Amino acid sequence: MKKSKAVEINNIGMTYHSLEGETQALQDISFDIHSGEIVVLVGPSGCGKSTLLSIISGLIKPSTGRVLINGRKVEGTSKDIGYMFQRDHLFEWRTILENVMIGLEIQNKLNGKTRAFAQGLLDTYGLGEFKHHYPRQLSGGMRQRAALIRTLAVQPEILLMDEPFSALDYQTRLAIADEIGIILKKEGKTALMVTHDIAEAISMADRVVVMTKRPGMIKNIHRIELSCEERSPLKSREAPEFRIYFNRIWKELDVHV
Ligand SMILES: Nc1ncnc2c1ncn2[C@@H]1O[C@H](COP(=O)(O)OP(=O)(O)O)[C@@H](O)[C@H]1O
Ligand SMILES: [Mg+2]
Repeated sequence: MKKSKAVEINNIGMTYHSLEGETQALQDISFDIHSGEIVVLVGPSGCGKSTLLSIISGLIKPSTGRVLINGRKVEGTSKDIGYMFQRDHLFEWRTILENVMIGLEIQNKLNGKTRAFAQGLLDTYGLGEFKHHYPRQLSGGMRQRAALIRTLAVQPEILLMDEPFSALDYQTRLAIADEIGIILKKEGKTALMVTHDIAEAISMADRVVVMTKRPGMIKNIHRIELSCEERSPLKSREAPEFRIYFNRIWKELDVHV
């Protein structure tokens, strides 16, 4: 079966112009993301990872190149794309349920069917009992899960996640990365995630894209193939090949070479 290309990133370059001068953030970035694939982007701080996500989402326009989503050129923001950030951005004065419904409200899509879909996600992913709680009553991991459900509620085709777990402590981070990795696969989502944690990248990715330091270019792309029975993020870490990928990517990211 030939997989369809959900995202095509073609020769993207980005130079920021400001009062201090020009900053070239990205240079000639090209790769595709297939439908249902999870691609994880790693690279040194400031190499343009967030910039690339903003370009794909249509929030900013690239200086060169173009991005296609399902064959159509990105020319502004679109409902096909869901964005998840480092902080969960839940509204403290709204309950979890009200938070989860907000995207549907904004898009004018709140009806019996979409409401049931969102409630179903809350139930399936362990937040059903907490839907009338306020964000402050939830743990960091649960909040991030609620943020994901809010993003999924509008049924975006593609998810962009910018260091979504970096505000969490290590234990929570392992658990929530595992849960979210499983949710993305179960819901068949196409996702591009940024992380600075190499192990997290390998554990969640179908492919890991390694970027150079600024201006960010593609250094290498690794297809992650692990011989473990169940390919969940936590189980992946036990695969014998895991360490080999880790060492390779670690070397490619080494700032001293
Ligand atoms: N709005 C902006 N104006 C000027 N320079 C920017 C802007 N946003 C980001 N940059 C610069 O572009 C480079 C890449 O930034 P960013 O995409 O945030 O990198 P990363 O997410 O990989 O850490 C950095 O040098 C940053 O300072
Ligand atoms: Mg960033």
